[in-house]
Amino acid sequence: MIAIAGAEEFVKSRSWYQTIDFGDGLVSKGCDWCGEMAWANMQRFLPTSLEGMRILDLGCNAGLFCVKSALLGAKEVIGVDWNGWRPKWDFVEQQKFVKEYFEERCGKELPIKYVSGKMEEFVQTPNLGQFDYVFAIASIYYTNTPEETVRAISDIGKNVILRLREANRIELFTRLFKQYGFTLVDSFQEKCWEKVVRQTDDFYMYHYKK
Ligand SMILES: C[S@@+](CC[C@H](N)C(=O)[O-])C[C@H]1O[C@@H](n2cnc3c(N)ncnc32)[C@H](O)[C@@H]1O
Repeated sequence: MIAIAGAEEFVKSRSWYQTIDFGDGLVSKGCDWCGEMAWANMQRFLPTSLEGMRILDLGCNAGLFCVKSALLGAKEVIGVDWNGWRPKWDFVEQQKFVKEYFEERCGKELPIKYVSGKMEEFVQTPNLGQFDYVFAIASIYYTNTPEETVRAISDIGKNVILRLREANRIELFTRLFKQYGFTLVDSFQEKCWEKVVRQTDDFYMYHYKK
């Protein structure tokens, strides 16, 4: 039985990109390798606690990684997403729902702020301070200004976790992160496509450190 009134109706009636396990058997029907599977793979690079940390999630979508980070103790989480990618899908409405749902379940307010806009513009905002982790999971390649975006991230990010695939310019982003002072800590092939019928190039996860 789902504890939050209206949750089942909301989850079932919306189109989701992120697959989110809300508990009690309620799961959003996003794509198989997005959401929970991506978060499980990100764990390989993350400490078990994010206590006191600042997290920036670029292209945060419905905000699953923001909520997970806050539940792991992050003191401040900012999620940025731009509604021009799939204008028919209301990710802002989903962010609000997902945040409130998990707040209700854990009985406390989660320190998450969502920003609607392009990541390439957000990362240029003055005085953002330093983020312990910047996530750009299957999102950084949507920027029209890759070099300026990576340069700006290099001013604010201590660690960056990326998900890329060949079709989305792995070579370009590998070169840019090195050029702007990051060191590759670890990377691995995610084997997403073994889990789905479609055959295409696979995703890779990267951990860069400043
Ligand atoms: C492939 S989805 C990945 C979503 C999420 N990071 C995940 O892995 O589950 C790409 C996301 O980036 C967002 N997006 C696309 N272009 C963007 C931009 N220029 N600035 C911010 N977000 C953008 C989309 O709205 C979408 O939520």
